Amino acid sequence: MVQAQPQPKSSNSPKLTPQESEQIIQFRHPERYRTSEWYTGDGTIAASGDGRSFKVTASYTLEAEVKLVTGVFKPSNPTLGEIYSRRGRCVAIVDQTVDELYGEEIRHYFQVHEIPLELLSCRAWESDKTPETVHKLLHFLGKDGCDVSRNEPVLVVGGGVLSDVAGLACALQHRRTPYVMVGTTVVAAIDAGPSPRTCTNGAQFKNSIGAYHPPVLTLVDRHFFRTLPLGHIRNGMAEIIKMAVTDDPILFELMEKYGPRLLETHFATVNADQELEAIADDVIYRALFSYMKHEGTNMFETYQDRPHAYGHTWSPRFEPAAKLLHGHAVSIGMAFGASLAVEMGWLTTTERDRIVALCRSLGLAVYHPILEDMELMISGQKNMRRKRGDGGLWAPLPTGIGSCDYAQEVSAELLEAGVKRHKDYCSTLPNAGQGEQMYLSDLGLA
Ligand SMILES: NC(=O)c1ccc[n+]([C@@H]2O[C@H](COP(=O)([O-])OP(=O)(O)OC[C@H]3O[C@@H](n4cnc5c(N)ncnc54)[C@H](O)[C@@H]3O)[C@@H](O)[C@H]2O)c1
Repeated sequence: MVQAQPQPKSSNSPKLTPQESEQIIQFRHPERYRTSEWYTGDGTIAASGDGRSFKVTASYTLEAEVKLVTGVFKPSNPTLGEIYSRRGRCVAIVDQTVDELYGEEIRHYFQVHEIPLELLSCRAWESDKTPETVHKLLHFLGKDGCDVSRNEPVLVVGGGVLSDVAGLACALQHRRTPYVMVGTTVVAAIDAGPSPRTCTNGAQFKNSIGAYHPPVLTLVDRHFFRTLPLGHIRNGMAEIIKMAVTDDPILFELMEKYGPRLLETHFATVNADQELEAIADDVIYRALFSYMKHEGTNMFETYQDRPHAYGHTWSPRFEPAAKLLHGHAVSIGMAFGASLAVEMGWLTTTERDRIVALCRSLGLAVYHPILEDMELMISGQKNMRRKRGDGGLWAPLPTGIGSCDYAQEVSAELLEAGVKRHKDYCSTLPNAGQGEQMYLSDLGLA
């Protein structure tokens, strides 16, 4: 049997052993040995020359494509057919509610394309986001189930809960099995779906156990939103606003102008004309592009300049405490962050007012009295600082419409002054800044 030998690329004489010389060898693995079409990698091994130590560095490159599509399970749409026909089958995990609504269409699609389908329908409520659900999925994917191979992309169809747990199961299966994601909620389409951050809730904290493992392909088909309750659409819009405020002023203007129409028409899938349909696609594309520009190029969170964490610094602490829906917790976090940025001289009051007005035009909350609980806010900030690493809190805060910077530290005094400023401002708003259907119980999720 012929063994593949690495090719030394260093200028050192190949006759010298590592013991005799400092030596740097760069490995380039031959193409034909690739495990799968989406992942490549190479590395360097550097001997110190003392015959006792060496250092290895390795890089890993992955490809993750994101595509807007129309009618992904319409038999005439070739996208999934092409991926799975050459593999002879499709192994799929589908959100139970989505299966009830679209299961027939999904099964028909694979029948027409003559592709055997192994489908697991999985209940994916927030309370199912547990290690047990991940185990259940691993059982389905593993030797006792479908025995998927490490280069066979699993198809995942559902919302953010399913993309998190099924993505994690794929990360664990064979240590890394690719998957194709079809996000069926706004959150999954523009945020959780293409995200590399797969996870499950741990015993104490939300999303605390996970792996960085993005889908190799994310297909975004807004036509699924027609069956999504309005409260869930609004919830997802908060994640679009965070990218608009921190990164994309055009997206912000589009949301100011068309946001309420997009909400009431379920992203131009109900009672909408062609113009609004084009705007819906543009909004989704811009939000995705902006998000993946930052998140997708920083797949392992090796850097903390993450604009998409705007609205997510203090909210992970107050969201469960006040039993808020995630989108409303994020919009309260964004509105508070804007007032804090005013306090710090980073943002004008006019810009802050625009951010707050946009959230309010969609029925998103901008204030909750829980912000005044300083003990809770400071402990939440401490947790976040620990999570984000040694360098600082790095809270993204707006510096205008479409730009942001990162606050390395926020002192307790500054935090308190920011809360006071925000409270004073929100007390002038109708309703004191409350949102529509802002609690988990409003959507039957508590
Ligand atoms: N990994 C990340 O980067 C990231 C980012 C944002 C959010 N998240 C996670 O995402 C989760 C929230 O995701 P979500 O908002 O999609 O909620 P979800 O997955 O709970 O879906 C909401 C509800 O809608 C149902 N549903 C899904 N598609 C539907 C459709 N087309 N029509 C009708 N009903 C449908 C689901 O069954 C569920 O009951 C949270 O757990 C959050 O932590 C993760």
